Amino acid sequence: MPIVNTKEMLQKAYKEKYAVGAFNICNMETIQGISCAAEDLYSPLILQASPGAIQYAGVDYLVNLVQVTADKTPLPIALHLDHGSDFEICKKCIDKGFSSVMIDGSSLDYEENVSMTKKVVDYAHSRNVTVEGELGILAGVEDNVKVSDAEASYTDPAQAEDFVRKTGVDSLAVAIGTSHGAYKFKPGQIPKLRFDILEKIEERLPDFPIVLHGASSVSVESVDTINKHGGDIPNAIGIPEDMLRKAVQMSVCKINIDSDLRLAVTGQIRKYLDENPAKFDPRKYLSYARDAVYDVVFKKITTVLGSAQKA
Ligand code: G3H
Ligand code: 13P
Ligand code: ZN
Repeated sequence: MPIVNTKEMLQKAYKEKYAVGAFNICNMETIQGISCAAEDLYSPLILQASPGAIQYAGVDYLVNLVQVTADKTPLPIALHLDHGSDFEICKKCIDKGFSSVMIDGSSLDYEENVSMTKKVVDYAHSRNVTVEGELGILAGVEDNVKVSDAEASYTDPAQAEDFVRKTGVDSLAVAIGTSHGAYKFKPGQIPKLRFDILEKIEERLPDFPIVLHGASSVSVESVDTINKHGGDIPNAIGIPEDMLRKAVQMSVCKINIDSDLRLAVTGQIRKYLDENPAKFDPRKYLSYARDAVYDVVFKKITTVLGSAQKA
């Protein structure tokens, strides 16, 4: 089926209390690993590309790879721009065939965020493209921009209601304690998400899909594999899975995962090359990478997101 926007898939997820996984893509192997797992589980899927991934792979390559993937499956697949920083990149992606865009004005003044987001919504909606906005600032690393814990700020529920009303966005990314990257909590710190804030947002925005960024769980297994085979990733800590399951039972309908895929890919490539020092065929280690992506997505859908439409 053609690439679809996220409207219906997030509405259905809200009603049926599951979340659609939004997995970051950057090449053919990530697209194939993610989509094969979703297909095997009959799960709706959001494939998302950040500006950095678009710069790496080229927008036309990504759009066409996703188009080929969507064409051969009856499952709904959306192609989403992750963390679009301005109107121009959103417009470019919409014009090239993305079905959904995120305009991330979370670091701007509130009024500037409203006005830039509204401009994107007007352009996108007239082309049947859905829009995700963001309010509140997550800690962590995106495109090499690091936001410290001190600069991060939680979403204000009253402002969230006002923002959605003024901009007309279709979904909203909120800051409740998750963060980008592999270092979400300090060693010894008890992981905590602000479910009280999420609850207040839900009260003010009933039936409205909320998005959780920075939601990777950072599996100990992946990190150990990397470190055992020459890597150096000390003290990596993610979001506990039971917290994500709780968020899914509330208004969270889209969960963003990138770091878990990166860690799994890196671990398997490191392991293969370490154990096979004489081998140099990329098809070998990239197929291990693709299988690792498949396994992460399969597990995420079955144990956290609950989006499989068939057992
Ligand atoms: O939220 C950020 C995503 O993990 C994308 O990261 O900007 O390094 O591609 P990136
Ligand atoms: P992670 O770094 O936790 O995977 O978050 C990814 C993300 O939010 C992409 O937008
Ligand atoms: Zn993000």
